[in-house]
Amino acid sequence: MANTLGIIKPDAVRRRLVGRIIQRIEQEGLILRGMKVQRLSPEQARRFYAVHENKPFYKSLVDFMTSGPVVLMVIGGHRSIERWRDLMGATDPAKAKYNTIRREFGTSIERNVVHGSDSPETARFEVGFFFRDDEILPKE
Ligand code: CDP
Ligand code: MG
Repeated sequence: MANTLGIIKPDAVRRRLVGRIIQRIEQEGLILRGMKVQRLSPEQARRFYAVHENKPFYKSLVDFMTSGPVVLMVIGGHRSIERWRDLMGATDPAKAKYNTIRREFGTSIERNVVHGSDSPETARFEVGFFFRDDEILPKE
């Protein structure tokens, strides 16, 4: 029953897709345990994506992720990490399965609308990166 971190990226906030994305999360039966709207600083974005610092897309990714506000979410429920990744779809929207959020709304491999942690270790790190314990609803 681990929590995972979800981010609605600046492209989606700018396009006013927040409500539709949260609706998909609710329809899937996942649970919102924490949420905030924030504009990431370059330092935060660089540290958050530090695993990608040697990739060719790193600088552009940091610029994109700091280009406007994001919605940060702590998402819980049974198998939340896998289920949120499945609902998001593959990194490249063109390759993502039908009915996934990235397939439906993504416009490029970079501007792919949402983020989700990819493992229990990553989820623990990423949730803690943005949320204090007292900002997360306890599991019932
Ligand atoms: O987000 P996900 O875990 O699916 O993919 P990632 O490989 O961890 O990459 C992190 C983010 O970098 C992606 O969600 C894209 O926004 C961006 N990216 C990119 O701009 N170009 C790539 N070739 C790969 C990823
Ligand atoms: Mg990733």
